[in-house]
Amino acid sequence: MVVVPHRHRLLRRSAARNRMATPAILLILQLLFTALGVDGAASFSFTNACQHPVWVGALHGASSPPLARSGFYLAPSATSSLAAPSSGAWSGTFWARTGCAADAATGRFSCATADCGTGDVACQGRGPAPPVSLVEVTLAAPGSGGQDFYDVSLVDGFNVPVRVAPSGGGAGDCRPAACAGDVNAVCPADLRVVASSSSGGGAVVACKSACNAYGSARYCCTGQYGTPAACGPTNYSQLFKTACPSAYSYAYDDASSTFTCSGASTYDVTFCPQS
Ligand SMILES: *[C@@H]1O[C@H](CO)[C@@H](O)[C@H](O)[C@H]1NC(C)=O
Repeated sequence: MVVVPHRHRLLRRSAARNRMATPAILLILQLLFTALGVDGAASFSFTNACQHPVWVGALHGASSPPLARSGFYLAPSATSSLAAPSSGAWSGTFWARTGCAADAATGRFSCATADCGTGDVACQGRGPAPPVSLVEVTLAAPGSGGQDFYDVSLVDGFNVPVRVAPSGGGAGDCRPAACAGDVNAVCPADLRVVASSSSGGGAVVACKSACNAYGSARYCCTGQYGTPAACGPTNYSQLFKTACPSAYSYAYDDASSTFTCSGASTYDVTFCPQS
C-alpha cells in the first residue's frame, strides 16, 4: 500500500477548480480553445535514458479512467506513448520498475524495485511497493483552459532518476520537474535497499524515505504532525532535497515541488534524465 498524502491535495485542488467553472463558461472556453486549435488531449511520452531496461507502471487516480496500458517494458533508448482521455480531468502516477523477470518455474513476473504485485507486466490498478520515485500528474479537462499540476515525489523513497516535462504549446510555468540525481549513491545505510545476491549482490537499488523505514508520525506527517506547520523538513528529507531540489522530499514540501502548466499537448517522462 503506497501512501502519498499530497496526491490527495492535488485531487482536492482540481475538484475545487471544477466547481468554480459553470457549464456555460466551460462551453464558451471549449469553443474558444477549439477555435484556437489547442483543445487536443494530452499524451504521455516515456523515454528510457537508463543503461538498463525499465518496466513502466501507470496507475490512474480513484476518480479517473485507466489508460490503455497499466504497465509495459521499455528497453534502453526506447520511447513509448500513452494517450490521456480526450475528455474530463485526469490524475494518475507513473514509475519505473527495475530488476524484473518472470520466475522460471511459475512464470510469475516480479521486480526488485517498485513491484506492483500482480505477477504480470500490467499493473491493473495496483500501485508500486515503495521505495519508488513517482511522477504525479493531474490534468485539467481538455479544452477547459485549466491548469495541469505535476511533480516528482520522493515521499515514498527513490529507485530511478526521473523527469516530467510538458511540451507542445503549454502556457504558464511549464518547467520540468525532476529528480535527476542518483539518490541511491548518497542513501544513508539505514534507508538502503540492497539487491539480493542472485540479482547482482550488494548494489543499492533503492532508497527508502524515512517514513517508509520508520513509519513514525513525525516522518510520515500524520497524527499530531498532520499539518504543514507541524511537519517541517527532517535530517532525512534534507538528504533527498539536496540530491533532488525540485522533487517532493516529504509530504508537505509543496512550495518548491509543485509545478503547473496549461494546454501542453504532451508530458515527456524520462527515466535517468541528463538533468
Ligand atoms: C537523523 O536524526 C536522528 C535522530 O533525530 C538520528 O538517529 C539519525 O541517525 C539521523 N540520520 C541522518 C541520516 O542524519
